Amino acid sequence: MKPELRGDYSRAGPDYAVEQNWAGYSAAEHALYRRLFERQAKLVARYACPEWIDAIARLESAGREIPRFDEVSRRLRAATGWEIVAVPGLIPDDAFFTHLANRRFPVTVWMRRPDEFDYIVEPDVFHDFFGHVPLLFDRVYADHLYEYGKGGLKAMRLDAVKMLARLYWFTIEFGLMRTEGGIRAYGAGLLSSGGELAYCVDDPRPRRLPFELERIMRTEYQIDRYQDAYFVIESFEHLMRETAPDFTPIYARIRNLPALHSP
Ligand code: PHE
Ligand code: FE
Repeated sequence: MKPELRGDYSRAGPDYAVEQNWAGYSAAEHALYRRLFERQAKLVARYACPEWIDAIARLESAGREIPRFDEVSRRLRAATGWEIVAVPGLIPDDAFFTHLANRRFPVTVWMRRPDEFDYIVEPDVFHDFFGHVPLLFDRVYADHLYEYGKGGLKAMRLDAVKMLARLYWFTIEFGLMRTEGGIRAYGAGLLSSGGELAYCVDDPRPRRLPFELERIMRTEYQIDRYQDAYFVIESFEHLMRETAPDFTPIYARIRNLPALHSP
């Protein structure tokens, strides 16, 4: 792992799993989590996709304090067969894909510092939990992410992770969905963001393009500012359908095409 990652990897097993050690969080960390949750809660009602909103309603205690992963895992297992696995932070591709392919979603254990309230570079427990976990209660999304995990292991064999990672970025992290109420966010990077969640739906500047697999897999993304374009799916079924074909010939075709610097 890159030495600059801030998590404690010393106790991680070969699959990078650690204990959450819930008792180890300070009152200040719980309070910071709660403040972040409360700010986002005001926004998600207006900007999150209905599947996310339905799911968070099942997690009544999710906003009070940093959630207990084992408790949420029990419910997730019953709903869609997923569980949470605690990790020290970002983990290598093979470990990440292997977890997803076994219906385990890696969630970072540590909490950001107070001065990172609005912006954080590495994902922390708030981003990972608030952004990603609720949608795992949706059966179609849950199945899609499982397929993505298997597709990741396959992409590693085909030396195509870079192309597949762009798909993750423009869907799981920054995806938009068309709903009856208008455009809504389902990407975790949007759902957990204080500023970009309203921006991605309301601001006239970014382009909102129809989902297009090959274009996405060719497009470089920026990690240090709001996106200047988003891709819009019609539904999780639509996303599932569009990503179901065998990517092997698609990777072979587009790996020789120039990357697009902006969508
Ligand atoms: N269909 C992809 C493949 O053949 C696997 C995949 C499914 C990838 C869903 C992403 C999402 O590689
Ligand atoms: Fe994320």
